[in-house]
Amino acid sequence: MIESDQISEAPGSFRREKISVSDLAAFGGAPLFSSPLHVTRPNAGDKERFFGLVEESWERRWFTNDGVMVADLETRLADRLGVKHCITASSGTAAMELAIRALELAGSVIVPAFTFVSTAHMLHWAGIRPVFADIDPRNWALDPESCRKKIAPDVSAVIATHPFGMAADIEALQALCDKEGIPLLFDSAHAFGCTYQGKPIGGFGRAEIFSFHATKAFHTFEGGAITTNDDALAADLRSMRNFGFSGYDQVERAGTNAKMSEIHAAMGLTNLDAFDDILAASARCFQSYEQALRDIGGITMRLPNAADRSNHHYVAAETDSERLGVTRDQLLDLLGAEGVYARRYFYPGTHCSEPYRTLFPDAGAKLPVTEALLNRIIQFPAGATVDGDDVRALGNLLRFIAAHAAEIAEALAQRD
Ligand SMILES: Cc1ncc(COP(=O)(O)O)c(C=O)c1O
Repeated sequence: MIESDQISEAPGSFRREKISVSDLAAFGGAPLFSSPLHVTRPNAGDKERFFGLVEESWERRWFTNDGVMVADLETRLADRLGVKHCITASSGTAAMELAIRALELAGSVIVPAFTFVSTAHMLHWAGIRPVFADIDPRNWALDPESCRKKIAPDVSAVIATHPFGMAADIEALQALCDKEGIPLLFDSAHAFGCTYQGKPIGGFGRAEIFSFHATKAFHTFEGGAITTNDDALAADLRSMRNFGFSGYDQVERAGTNAKMSEIHAAMGLTNLDAFDDILAASARCFQSYEQALRDIGGITMRLPNAADRSNHHYVAAETDSERLGVTRDQLLDLLGAEGVYARRYFYPGTHCSEPYRTLFPDAGAKLPVTEALLNRIIQFPAGATVDGDDVRALGNLLRFIAAHAAEIAEALAQRD
């Protein structure tokens, strides 16, 4: 039974300390959170600023096609990232497709399996074979040594991801690609606002590709961009995102429609103005997690490399079922019942998603680090919109689960 003096409430959420296992929502107790906590809730800058920009665009009657706000956003993003060119696009996936086609990649391309499926999809659609290499357990990014072993005559590029904003080993990957004479690209969807060796992510490799989807640290509702220091590539990308036009009525190559509209750029400008505040709020949330998850045996929070700056937009951890006493998936079910929608991220891995699972059924056997992580990883609700009280309540819940794990595991077994 729950005693009334053991109930605490906070605005927006309904707090109940768990006293006994039957208090867990999975077994009929009241959920800890009355409104769900999702892994990410979109950031949003100043509403007045956004609607002011929309109003201006309305008056101009210039809604798309290289509008003034898209141009302004591209200039400001390039400045912030310390890179010569920023070419916005309608999504991160469209940006990746543009880069793949502009560089005329062919044959096969080395990618991690521990990433979002979109990269492999864009390769596959272009008739290119994705070759999955393993990740480094230290940063969960493409392992240069595993990559080296996958080099073959038909490999035309390497595309690495900076997962959760943790920079890949750029130096080693660049050295490998230089030796092979192939371009190195980055899927930097998670890494806006992060640095590597003191320099912003965005200026590395031949090009970096960002997603500006609403769930990302910096976003434009939907959108994306390619950043590069290569003038010729930038010009090709600009033309290819606009059907291949090079002048008013001149089409010089095959292209697509991957343009960003003005209303998307308005959201980008609004969020860019607020981005330093967003970074600070996300860092506070991250620090709350560092405190809240401290000393919970079986849940190890992943901390960014101390030498790099993180955007702190994600909180991911590795679970150890043996130490925790419940499996990662049982933990997810317990949390879900409490209104905490933590996730298994990049699960089940690109290599286990169609069409790759059918095309390359044995890929997983050669990716031991990837496979192990996919079975252990958990991503918690985080970012600028999650407050410290919620994190502390979640930490207490996790501590309760860890302390009563044997009883919970038995109750789950009886229930199922
Ligand atoms: C790592 C990663 N790459 C690429 C994408 C695709 O970006 P978009 O949704 O903007 O197409 C996402 C997520 O959306 C992602 O998380």
